[in-house]
Amino acid sequence: VDDHDENFWLFGYGSLIWKPPPHFDKRIPGWVDGYVRRFWQASEDHRGTPEAPGRVVTLIERSHWETLGDNHHDAPKSVWGVAYHIKPEKVAEVKKNLDIREINGYSIHFAPFQPADASAEIRALVYIGTPDNEQFVGVQDPQKLAEHIHKSEGPSGLNKEYLLNLDKALCELDAEADSHIHDLADRVRALDGPSHADPRSPSFHR
Ligand code: BEZ
Repeated sequence: VDDHDENFWLFGYGSLIWKPPPHFDKRIPGWVDGYVRRFWQASEDHRGTPEAPGRVVTLIERSHWETLGDNHHDAPKSVWGVAYHIKPEKVAEVKKNLDIREINGYSIHFAPFQPADASAEIRALVYIGTPDNEQFVGVQDPQKLAEHIHKSEGPSGLNKEYLLNLDKALCELDAEADSHIHDLADRVRALDGPSHADPRSPSFHR
């Protein structure tokens, strides 16, 4: 166990929020600044397949995002999520297992994480699919993106379940509102909603 392993923190801003990594002994809500969370990373391994990739979140540097002309032009000041402290004797094993995430375009970064309880900043590992990786899809039309998420599925389950879980998890963290996530969740729920089972709709009787 080296010095670094005593103090290994992993920041989750996607599925890690509700699906913790193995061998953690602390989980603390908080945020990182300077990024914007978007459903702009194609997923061939978790919420889609190589033939029909789904969409999962990545972080975009805010200064870069501001140049992109996103249809969702608001983004919270901070990206909320959770930091996990990994048991020192398990860090090597966890790092090894987490490297598999890199396969789908994510790379390892370190960012200052601010705990919501106002305790001292922590250096945390964060997986980011940067704009130069092959799975990065860039600016998406919100309705088309919602429809894409609605129809996608991969080995980890339905893509819409990932979105709705994220929306719920952020709510439970008491996070600063993230309108990109809320809006997509609303659109996906509408696609599943009562209008689809409306007896007046011609498709109902098919
Ligand atoms: C996350 O849940 O925060 C995450 C996990 C793997 C890659 C990127 C993000």
